[in-house]
Amino acid sequence: MKRVDDFRLRFGKQELVPIMIGGMGVDISTAELALEAARLGGVGHISDAMLPTVSDRRYDTNFVKEKLKLYTYNLDNSDKSAVKFDLGQVAESTRLHVSRTMEAKRGSGMIFINCMEKLTMNAPRETLRVRLHEALSAGVDGITLSAGLHLGSFTLMEDHPRFRDAKLGIIVSSVRALQLFLRKNAKLNRFPDFIVVEGPLAGGHLGFGLDDWMKFDLRTIVNEVHQYLRNEKLDIPVIPAGGIFTGSDATSFLEEGAAAVQVATRFTVTDECGLPKNVMQEYFKAGENDIEVNTTSPTGYPMRMLKNSPSIGSGIRPGCESYGYLLDANGHCAYIDAYNREVAAHPDAKKIEVMDKTCLCTHMRNFKCWTCGHYTYRLKDTTRQLKDGSFQILTAEHVFHDYQFSTDNRIALPGE
Ligand SMILES: Cc1cc2nc3c(=O)[nH]c(=O)nc-3n(C[C@H](O)[C@H](O)[C@H](O)COP(=O)(O)O)c2cc1C
Repeated sequence: MKRVDDFRLRFGKQELVPIMIGGMGVDISTAELALEAARLGGVGHISDAMLPTVSDRRYDTNFVKEKLKLYTYNLDNSDKSAVKFDLGQVAESTRLHVSRTMEAKRGSGMIFINCMEKLTMNAPRETLRVRLHEALSAGVDGITLSAGLHLGSFTLMEDHPRFRDAKLGIIVSSVRALQLFLRKNAKLNRFPDFIVVEGPLAGGHLGFGLDDWMKFDLRTIVNEVHQYLRNEKLDIPVIPAGGIFTGSDATSFLEEGAAAVQVATRFTVTDECGLPKNVMQEYFKAGENDIEVNTTSPTGYPMRMLKNSPSIGSGIRPGCESYGYLLDANGHCAYIDAYNREVAAHPDAKKIEVMDKTCLCTHMRNFKCWTCGHYTYRLKDTTRQLKDGSFQILTAEHVFHDYQFSTDNRIALPGE
């Protein structure tokens, strides 16, 4: 019987364990988690979401304070179009996070950075260009383009000296999205080095509609992508993601021609993951009915999360002067409208409730939006319950090895 370790992900001459830990913003997929994946011979991701605030927390910079100081005058203004990022600070925070992580890398694996197009930052092109260029300059092994179609992202990197040597990939949820990306970039004479096909059971934002995500199935989409690539005579590694919970799940995709798998949920309850330990216990405790896909994210994409996420219903003042990562090209975010509507409807209320949208920047930054994969309710079966009723936090190495070596749909408990 085959297991994941019988397969290898190949990038040119380099061979890796075909396990990629997916990017999880904001610093849920930490450098420590990515470094473990690389040490164990696989691929880890850091995330480039909100790096100025991540850098403040990790490297003692003051980017958020400095931005807030500049825009304090605007705090009570519902028009946030004046709130811009200093591109130099975006560059510096990216450089810091990527270079510190890459300097610490050990082992034969790789570290990629997950870069979401939906982080439009009130100047989509300019900020995205800086994020991509700085990550490449700081020596990241690869970039995974996510949360958006990224039709212009390769062009934004074309003039970077590492454009053809870094591993550049894209996450898609349909053949159509892949076709669009390939067509748009045909003239660059540079194909993606890998394609992550993310199905409807993943964590974070979903590339499916709120009402129809359950009608889609990862295996079907992966097969369609394989077929399309065969028709086009393209040999690009395909990496399925979303709901691959056991080593056997992973092996079945590898046997059908996948180059690797991308996984995340099982690593959300490991020491190296960025979630606070009490939040990990919420993930362990969750039952199937405690998880929902909703549209509270102002990005417009549905998002999966625990129903008891503190972000849901929270009516905090929009945090754009400090953060503002989701402001679109016109300085607009759907949460601002929802918040203003509730303030106008309840002028005397001390505390406002906003049910339909959430201030995602603030809540993701504070680990108050508990986004998770569909199978989060199975996490309790991956560990032991302790005497006090809490669940034992795992190590990334344990979970990685369980994916790598297990067979028969077995999940090894810690210590096994
Ligand atoms: C807590 C959490 C946060 C995530 N955040 C991001 C993100 O910021 N960007 C992204 O492209 N994908 C994100 N994802 C998706 C994962 O990278 C991955 O593709 C997917 O969750 C794999 O499915 P699995 O969780 O069932 O293993 C996130 C997933 C989780 C569980």
